[in-house]
Amino acid sequence: MIRTWRLDSAQQSLVLASRDDRLPEIVYWGARLPNAEDVQAIALASRIDITDGGLDALPELSICPEAARSFHGHSGLSLRCENGAAMQPKFTFVEAREELDTVSFVFGDSALGLTYKAKFAIDPQTQVISTSARLEAAQPVRMDWFAAPVFPAPAHSDEMIDFTGRWCDEFQLNRTAWSAGMRCRENHTGRTGHEHFPGLIVPSRGATNTDGCAVGFHYGWSGGHKMVAEELPDGRRQVQFGHATGLESEPAKVFETAVLYAVHSSSGLNGCAVAFQRHLRDRIVKLPDPKRSRPVHYNCWEAVYFDHQLDALKEIATLAAQLGAERFVLDDGWFGKRDDDSSSLGDWQVDPRKYPDGLDPLITHIHAQGMTFGIWFEPEMVNPDSDVFRAHPDWALGPSDQLLGRQQMVLDMANAQVRTYLFERISAILGAHDVDYIKWDHNRVLPVPSAAQTRGVYALLDQLRAAHPQVEIESCASGGGRIDFGILGRTQRVWLSDSNDALERLRIQHNASLFLPMSVTGSHVGPRTCHTSGRVIDIRFRAWVAAQRHMGFEMDPRELSKEERNALGGVTQWWKANRDWMTHADILRLDSADPAVLAEQQIARTGERFVVFAGKAETSRQISPRPLRLTGLDPQATYHVDLVNRAEISTRSRGDQALREAPLELSGAYLMSHGLTLPWSFPETMWVVEGHRQ
Ligand code: DGJ
Repeated sequence: MIRTWRLDSAQQSLVLASRDDRLPEIVYWGARLPNAEDVQAIALASRIDITDGGLDALPELSICPEAARSFHGHSGLSLRCENGAAMQPKFTFVEAREELDTVSFVFGDSALGLTYKAKFAIDPQTQVISTSARLEAAQPVRMDWFAAPVFPAPAHSDEMIDFTGRWCDEFQLNRTAWSAGMRCRENHTGRTGHEHFPGLIVPSRGATNTDGCAVGFHYGWSGGHKMVAEELPDGRRQVQFGHATGLESEPAKVFETAVLYAVHSSSGLNGCAVAFQRHLRDRIVKLPDPKRSRPVHYNCWEAVYFDHQLDALKEIATLAAQLGAERFVLDDGWFGKRDDDSSSLGDWQVDPRKYPDGLDPLITHIHAQGMTFGIWFEPEMVNPDSDVFRAHPDWALGPSDQLLGRQQMVLDMANAQVRTYLFERISAILGAHDVDYIKWDHNRVLPVPSAAQTRGVYALLDQLRAAHPQVEIESCASGGGRIDFGILGRTQRVWLSDSNDALERLRIQHNASLFLPMSVTGSHVGPRTCHTSGRVIDIRFRAWVAAQRHMGFEMDPRELSKEERNALGGVTQWWKANRDWMTHADILRLDSADPAVLAEQQIARTGERFVVFAGKAETSRQISPRPLRLTGLDPQATYHVDLVNRAEISTRSRGDQALREAPLELSGAYLMSHGLTLPWSFPETMWVVEGHRQ
């Protein structure tokens, strides 16, 4: 007997089939099927043949492949009894429920007292499939590995793209060829990490940013994940995501995976990117006031570091507001006796040496400049040199002889007393002042990874958000060390990287847009000489790169020349005039014919307007710019296309290139097939082109 279930959105269909009461497998995941498709026929047609030298039947690649059913690849579940003996469940059908756009399953192994539950939901607007699994046990069991429902990977794919990175260089793409066996990514750092963004894109052969098929995955969890991409000897491929092994150290009766987000695209990598961007922005992130325009930030970290002097901060605030900043974020250094990074984390009281009259004089000044006030915390951390650690050394996570990270330890967030202390300390600051923003940092990896730690952080964030619903929170972890849909269900912005080097940022945010929309992605104009790379970058390039995302400033505005102030003020005005539609736009990565150019197109949901950012990351090999093909336009429509920053054309550009002089009216067909020709430019410059449908 075969049971089948089907989920559809405009861009894809997913068909699950269960044979003879066994766990279902995904028998089809691809472009949208006709409504009349016979899914029983698909379940039969998808079976592959077997031959000599193997078993007499093919073990299913189910949503939780079972070793006990002779599945010899990586199984979906690995658990033991409380006494340590291995358990090998064989689940059979109990019930399935279909509701609008969702299907949920219950399977059981009565001999072992286990129940496996899984749920799939497809979002008809965003196109994203959300799925998770839960295991219930009659007696406590030990969980070694529990995959979220398992997907097949396309056979017509040559490679997979996953993500690596480091401090100041997040979201590097890793391309690995499929071959027999398993590619395993596992993150034991206890946080999402710069190195381990939990995502995977599997492009089909020949897929590009704009064309071809691809599937994408993201595991929405902040405590470290494991990913398995395996090609079996029979040629089938599977993708598994779950918490990293070892995170669940205690026996328990219930285990749950985080949500795995998945999408199939027939419009290249952008089809995955747009689905993830929309889903994150429209379904996951909860803004206190969704109608409020994203404010231009000023963050004082790279201007003053720990040297907080009231007069200097006031002067900086005045200048930042004149440049267009609307929110001032007071970074690290305001509390305890925090003159460097060696002390005071955990002592969340205002430092009376730096602020003898408290924070009010600064906040009053900031408000008088028309800005709101935000403040930095690193709640999960403690310095051994702090009053709180001296009073509660047992609150620290891990062994006492552990290696420190940035001279700090981690508080045990599974301890309710720790959470209460932090809730009260943070609430005291939020209650005493008019604060609309927290920058929530996390600057070291855990001494011992633990899922309970992540659940504790989530609980504290949930409690604080319930108590202070007007406060937005930014997820920062030495830059982009904690970016995932789990944390973004509780925060509203990410500090993508500590690199304010516009050249590096251009690439980091280009790749991050495979998952992140503009609205959550912080991007700041850094100092003239970048503090983390030493590179000296022109203000116009720095400003335009920041204007691609949620814009802010982080340099000391006192260093700016008049020309720099004017240039930055101009770009900021442009950003303010465009931010509302860009907040809801899709970011489409363009397939640049020139490898020196990293380009993207942000297009309004209505298709009425777009902006292209073409960043020249290095000198081109060829002399003249190559046409840049746009995407997502109506081929029949005419677009009014204009260069926003014509004033930046260099005197070295000497031809009769049309856009140099005036706007153009061009069809979508031309712009997408031939592409837009831009003026010659220096490296480390950005062309910004606006388009309006006529
Ligand atoms: C690391 C963050 O990424 C920086 O932006 C800054 O907030 C520092 N921590 C402060 O210690």
